[in-house]
Amino acid sequence: MSTPLWPVAASAHAAEIDLLFLALLALVVLLSLPVFVLLIGFALRYREGRDVNRSERVDRSLWLEVSWAAIPFALSLVFFFWAAKLYADLQRPPEDALEIEVVARQWMWKTQHPGGQREINELHVPQGRPVVLSMTSEDVIHSLYFPALRIKQDVLPGRTTRLWFEAGEPGTHHLLCTEFCGTAHSEMRGRIVVMAPAAYEDWLERQPLAPTLAARGAELYRSLGCSGCHEASDVVRAPPLEGVFGSPVPLMSGEVIIADEAYIRDSILLPMKDIAAGYEPLMPSFANRIEEEQLIELVAYIKSLGGAGEYRR
Ligand code: CUA
Repeated sequence: MSTPLWPVAASAHAAEIDLLFLALLALVVLLSLPVFVLLIGFALRYREGRDVNRSERVDRSLWLEVSWAAIPFALSLVFFFWAAKLYADLQRPPEDALEIEVVARQWMWKTQHPGGQREINELHVPQGRPVVLSMTSEDVIHSLYFPALRIKQDVLPGRTTRLWFEAGEPGTHHLLCTEFCGTAHSEMRGRIVVMAPAAYEDWLERQPLAPTLAARGAELYRSLGCSGCHEASDVVRAPPLEGVFGSPVPLMSGEVIIADEAYIRDSILLPMKDIAAGYEPLMPSFANRIEEEQLIELVAYIKSLGGAGEYRR
């Protein structure tokens, strides 16, 4: 079923969201229709001047009053648990999901596949395989929305958010920005192309290869001189970065912090904020020396060095 008001459901999740929506709509009709029918019916029947029997007035009925509160409450709770389960599923991408990087900027979506294939305002994905989008923004808040998959997620500067799905039948659907992000917000759209697995492999092979975010980050890591301190060296001691992503880091302050994307980013821009225990506060800030895009690449490189993180690649 597809109309302008009701896009196709391109995943099992989308079909279930539709079912949830329709069932909730049915419940709302079921609960509100009798109220309006009786309201109008009684208003007509007992209107002023009408000669009807008004003597059998019921003052209270405990049974009636409890039941009209308890039954709708129980029915509504079913929807709470159903929706909570769907929401919780969306928060946990499967471990073996194909991870695609998404970088948003005014006003385009840049995507990159694990092999280095890059796209702009397009996203090709294989059918029947979980795909997790690892998303960040170079400037303002954007929000990635796939109406056909019934999912959307804000994309924030300085943070990594994730969105996952498993697309059904091959097809082409809208990809939209759904957060007002400036004058050309309405043009920040593209398409998602769901392909059969073999067609997707073919498509990947036909794309020119570009260095991945992590590979570009590795290049910067050397050219900015990070490797001089963070790799085995006798000159300056700095924490080694292999395996740090997602791991607990003891700080000089006595606290322990998990090295997530935000921590790595802070360490590059505000190195004096959280000093790792056992190291001198020597690192210079890179706040005015690197572009947002380069920062995203550096964080991707440090993630690629592995670690205990849930989303390690
Ligand atoms: Cu990006 Cu609206």
